Order: sequence, then structure tokens, then C-alpha cells
Amino acid sequence: MTMLANHETADPGPSATAEPVLRLRDLRLRFGHGGADLVAGVSLTVGRGETLCVVGESGCGKSVTALALMGLLPTPPARITGGEAIFEGRDLFQLTERERADLRGSAMGMIFQEPMTSLNPAFTVGQQIAEGVMRHRQVSKAQARAIALDILKRVRIPAPEKRLDSYPHQLSGGMRQRVMIAMALVNQPRLLIADEPTTALDVTIQAQVLALIAQLQRETGTAMILITHDLGVVAEVATHVAVMYAGRVVEAGPVEAIFTDPQHPYTIGLMGAMPSLGARQGSLSTIPGTVPPADDMPDGCRFAPRCPFAQDNCRAEDPPLREVAAHHSAACWYAPLEEKLPASDTRRAAA
Ligand SMILES: Nc1ncnc2c1ncn2[C@@H]1O[C@H](COP(=O)(O)OP(=O)(O)OP(=O)(O)O)[C@@H](O)[C@H]1O
Ligand code: SF4
Ligand SMILES: [Mg+2]
Repeated sequence: MTMLANHETADPGPSATAEPVLRLRDLRLRFGHGGADLVAGVSLTVGRGETLCVVGESGCGKSVTALALMGLLPTPPARITGGEAIFEGRDLFQLTERERADLRGSAMGMIFQEPMTSLNPAFTVGQQIAEGVMRHRQVSKAQARAIALDILKRVRIPAPEKRLDSYPHQLSGGMRQRVMIAMALVNQPRLLIADEPTTALDVTIQAQVLALIAQLQRETGTAMILITHDLGVVAEVATHVAVMYAGRVVEAGPVEAIFTDPQHPYTIGLMGAMPSLGARQGSLSTIPGTVPPADDMPDGCRFAPRCPFAQDNCRAEDPPLREVAAHHSAACWYAPLEEKLPASDTRRAAA
């Protein structure tokens, strides 16, 4: 599989602002009482057929944001303190638990990193997929089993008839993840959220499973939010990218803009951490310093303690996320950097 193949050949689609499937605005959430918001104003938009990759260092709030969208955040201890998530005209955060459960597994699907946390060891693969079908559609048991068989074929499980009657522990990790993908897609969701869906798999299997998700997503036109640490994956499947830092989105835009014209110093650092656009080993951890804890965030720009361009005003006032080019936003007082910083050398941030 060659890197960039997808977005060299496929139309990256309109910006996430066109025909949005989900609009998350200013999500704020925290754990426990008092303290500070761990997620402190996250906004994301994903449109039909688009793949929004969410990247950012460990602990920046990617998974809790995904769980909040799915209605799977344990509350308590978590508490959503602000924001709205408009999905098909309704604010997810205003729905009842029953309404949220109706959306999960039908209009919204989720793929987790570790399939065993979502598969029930006591039921066969066929029973679990068929149950998901019958919960949301008026079909007989036999029809649900036929639908389950069909989706197992579509996720290219070897010997699908036999696998219908297999228990999860009888499958390899890669096959279990294919079952998870089958369960997430069987009711044709309009939004798919995948949180590091291939991280727990062998490297060779990772590429296959990822290619499968990307292909099914393209075939169905499902909007996808894909959380990943792997910039090679982003280069391969993203149409859009949101870069998170310390509980915020610091930059967002079409994938080409983020890779070729990053505007936030943190993004520039991430790109510097990636040897080349085609490389798979991109790591997000080579920027000196660490993310401050939620209850000890600096005033002003949260990236200032690690930013090579930080000025006094950065430490005083928090930069809002604002458009720096068409459909491309950054939360930095000095974006676009080349124009606003005197004697700036943006490559310095990557060094
Ligand atoms: N159940 C919980 N109770 C208390 N704090 C939690 C809980 N779940 C998550 N957190 C806090 O939220 C922070 C952000 O977690 P999250 O899992 O969203 O990070 P992430 O961006 O997905 O990181 P990673 O890349 O490592 O998956 C964690 O560092 C942790 O402190
Ligand atoms: S606002 Fe200032 S500290 Fe924050 S990223 Fe921009 S230059 Fe760096
Ligand atoms: Mg996570």
C-alpha cells in the first residue's frame, strides 16, 4: 500500500463545513467536582464522506471527546460542562439515555482499540452481530443472521460461514477487529468514530485493517472521525485533520494544508517529528517538554511553555481558533507565522 495513494487519487471532498454530519462546538468536560476542564473548548466538524483525523499527544483528550460524542463517557466521574454536538439536527448532549442508545450501533458506530472490551466472550460472532441488527431493524432472526454473514464477507473475514459460529476467543486479534468493524458498520451508520483502531494489532495486519476501514468508509459515504498517533495513517486516509493540544483544538483544516502549510507551532513541531510524508514511523513525542496537567494550565496560550515563538502577550491571553486561510484555522496569535513574526524561522520549531 503506497502512502498518499488515497488523497492523490480521490477527491478530498468539500471542506468539513459542507453538508456536515456532526458539528461539535466548544465541548468542555472534566472529571470529578471542582478542578479544571480537561477538555476545554473542543470544536470539530466532519462532513459526509469525509475522514477527519484527530491527532495530538497522549492525554490531550482525544478518547474522552470520542466517548462524549458516543454517549459512553462514565458520568460520574466525568461531567460535561459545556458545548453542543449537532448530529442530524439534534444536540446529542440534550438527548435522553434511551435516545443515545438508539443512535449507538445504528446511526453512529464506534471502533475501539481493543475489540475484546466490546465483544461478549459468551456469545458467538454471529449472535452478537445479529443482535445488533435486530435491536435497530425489524427483521427476523434468520434475516439478521443473513445480514451478519453478508457483513462478515464485506470485512473479508476468512471462512465467514464458519466464523458466524465462532466465539471471540477463537479468533486472531486482526479477525476480532474485523468483527468490531462489521458490528460498527452493519446498520450503515452516518458517522463512524474509530479510536486508534489498529494500534493493538501486528504492524502487517494494521495496514490491512486500516485499508479495509478506509475502503468501506469510501463505499458507504460514512463520515469518519479517526483518532490516531500515526501521521503515516493520517497522510493515507485523512481528508481533514484536527490537531489537539492540552484539551483544545489548536489547528484544523484539509489534510494538504495541515501537512504542507501548518500554521500552529505545535503542528509544525509534529510535522518536524515526521521524517517525511511517506514515512510510517511518525511520532508525536519529540517536541521538548510535556503537556501541562489540566489543573495546572498556564495562563494564556497553553502551548507557550513549549513554544519557540512565545511572546509576552501569548502568556497573557489565550489565542482563539480562527481562520487563517480558507477552511484552515489555527489558535495562535502569530498565525500565519511567516507574515506575523519578524525574523521568523518556522523550521526552528521543528528542530
Ligand atoms: N475515567 C477517568 N477518570 C479520571 N480521569 C480520566 C478518566 N479517563 C480519562 N481521564 C483523564 O483524561 C485525560 C485524557 O484522556 P484521553 O484518554 O482522552 O487522552 P487521549 O488523548 O485519548 O490519550 P492517548 O493518546 O493516550 O489515548 C487522561 O490523561 C486522564 O487524566
Ligand atoms: S500564541 Fe504564542 S505561544 Fe501560543 S503557539 Fe502562538 S506563538 Fe506560540
Ligand atoms: Mg486515547
